[in-house]
Amino acid sequence: MNSFREVTPDNFICSPFKSIGSDWMLIAASDGERVNAMTASWGGMGVLWGKNCVFIFVRESRFTKELIDSSNGFSVTFFDREKYAGMLGYMGKASGRNEDKIASAGLTVLGGDVPYFEQAQTAILCDKLCRLNVPKECILSDEALSRYYPNGDYHDMYVGEIKKILVKDSE
Ligand SMILES: Cc1cc2nc3c(=O)[nH]c(=O)nc-3n(C[C@H](O)[C@H](O)[C@H](O)COP(=O)(O)O)c2cc1C
Repeated sequence: MNSFREVTPDNFICSPFKSIGSDWMLIAASDGERVNAMTASWGGMGVLWGKNCVFIFVRESRFTKELIDSSNGFSVTFFDREKYAGMLGYMGKASGRNEDKIASAGLTVLGGDVPYFEQAQTAILCDKLCRLNVPKECILSDEALSRYYPNGDYHDMYVGEIKKILVKDSE
């Protein structure tokens, strides 16, 4: 297996539309004892308060949210889509509240306070910079409200300051 090398944000070539929206990512966090991760296809990358950042949206009901809230950071990881399609589907359906998803998915955890995965092609490690609840009153699209929030379960947006970007060269 290829090993990771660090790249600077300026040298990181990535389409967030493809990597997040089409290929999907894992969001992972740890409370110091437990590690969990979930699939996500909403989010972004950009700049806030002069810092390079990742933006993620996590619903109140997610177990991963509990771990993000008890931690100082989180990671987002990107995988070879074809090879890991089954894993990404599973991590987006099962909950770490009920089972050890990481063991079941055969993922190997790396890192310390901010966990990431050996099998990933790219890992972005972040410190939490901001958490913003996105309540009903802030959602200006009636279509989004009725389509995505028929039962509430609103998202929190987390802004993570990028501390490290690790990439593997394609195999
Ligand atoms: C393609 C895909 C994209 C998803 N995107 C998000 C997302 O951006 N935010 C979110 O809260 N849940 C998202 N989910 C749902 C979570 O991954 C799913 O509810 C997961 O089981 C939560 O796991 P957890 O309870 O272990 O945290 C997505 C699921 C899939 C399959």
